[in-house]
Amino acid sequence: MSVKSAKLTLEGIEYDFPIVRGSEGELGIDIRKLRDRTGMITLDEGFGSTGSAKSAITYIDGEQGILRYRGYPIEELCGKASFMEVAYLLIYGELPNEQQYEQFGGSVRRHTMIMEDIKRYYDVWPRHAHPMALLSSVVSALSTYYEDSLDPFDPHQVQVSIHRLLAKLPTIAAFSYKKSIGQPKIYPLNKLSYPANILHMMFAVPAEDYGVDPDVERAMDKLLIIHGDHEQNCSTATVRMVGSSQANLFATVAAGVLALWGPLHGGANQAVIEMLEAIHTDGGDLRKWVDKAKDKDDPFRLMGFGHRVYKNFDPRSTILREASRGVLDKLGKHDPLLDIAIKLEEIALKEDYFLEKRLYPNVDFYSGLILRAMGFPLKMFPVVFALGRLPGWIAHWKEMNDDPNTRIARPRQIYVGHNERKYVPIQER
Ligand code: CMC
Repeated sequence: MSVKSAKLTLEGIEYDFPIVRGSEGELGIDIRKLRDRTGMITLDEGFGSTGSAKSAITYIDGEQGILRYRGYPIEELCGKASFMEVAYLLIYGELPNEQQYEQFGGSVRRHTMIMEDIKRYYDVWPRHAHPMALLSSVVSALSTYYEDSLDPFDPHQVQVSIHRLLAKLPTIAAFSYKKSIGQPKIYPLNKLSYPANILHMMFAVPAEDYGVDPDVERAMDKLLIIHGDHEQNCSTATVRMVGSSQANLFATVAAGVLALWGPLHGGANQAVIEMLEAIHTDGGDLRKWVDKAKDKDDPFRLMGFGHRVYKNFDPRSTILREASRGVLDKLGKHDPLLDIAIKLEEIALKEDYFLEKRLYPNVDFYSGLILRAMGFPLKMFPVVFALGRLPGWIAHWKEMNDDPNTRIARPRQIYVGHNERKYVPIQER
């Protein structure tokens, strides 16, 4: 299509707005001057038709079920690359050569410990505290320890803070988990790979030897890659929103973690398992649960189904369906919830309701089953999602700060409240 501009007619006056074309041919109407020229704004609750940034990081075609990081298909990255390569790719734009990979990995490895003082934070939180709250609080607190690397426009400080955060997030996450189960915290072991170190800090105990199973390590790596980035999702949009005020990386990512926590976003993998458990406990009558999901008067939704962007299979769920079988086989576990999930998918995808609304399994439908097989408790699911999403958040924060056109994000609104009224003293109300 060679559309050059879009015309808008308001009260007989015609306005022209330029068209922006993306590298995959997507088109958008540039309305930055709309309010100046017409006095009007657009209203788009949930931002379904609003582009908030030009970005070169991730491409999604929701109609075709395509996901690419910096041009590389997710299937290829999951099959061939390591998470550290993908993190480098997302943040710096290109796959690293061997020397870059060594330097990057070496630097991240050197920063894995957190200040001993920070460990005391964990003592004051209740044992049942949700680890996402701890994760966000400690990430935010890093800004108080590393005041030497907070300037988002100093390239050296940016580099240092990125490496620090990538290195420390697994340690912070694992300490949160150990706190919740009352076990001693396990320090990072820098000879291990990034995913192996995560498993080690989460599951090792000082009293026993712990070896990371290479297949489980690979599955963890794949999970992290799959969650690496997903363009302008809720938490990344939050990161961009907070970062646009020129907040430092730690403060910005702390906000991203909190946005990810909700059940409609990163909390959905936890909600999927809770739903599958409820179905299992209820006797496994899948028909009943599918009907509940279709019932307009019932608030129940099939968790792990549907997506704002994918109107076809989420390519991540296809990869994870296979991976979940692999991990369960490898660990010699049989999980009745996997059987329920597979049958549920089969039944739902034969229903007009799901087909017409184009609701397919999303990334969360199978990721929870893998995490459960690995031994993660439900509350840790969104934490692992956050570990995977970190390079994406960093990449967007960096891309935004490197862009000279960035302005503070400040949407408008349509005010629908009271018109001016007079204050009434409390005794007269
Ligand atoms: N089960 C039953 N009906 C559904 C579902 C579902 N999971 N998802 C959407 N619908 C229906 C919804 O009721 C609506 O019907 P109608 O048009 O008759 O009102 C229609 O489909 C469109 O749904 P929507 O809520 O307007 O779509 P959305 O783009 O605003 O929401 C979603 C997307 C992912 C929040 C939603 O599909 C959902 O709540 N899914 C379950 C939660 C979930 O799996 N979230 C993980 C998202 S993927 C990972 C991530 O981004 O973090």
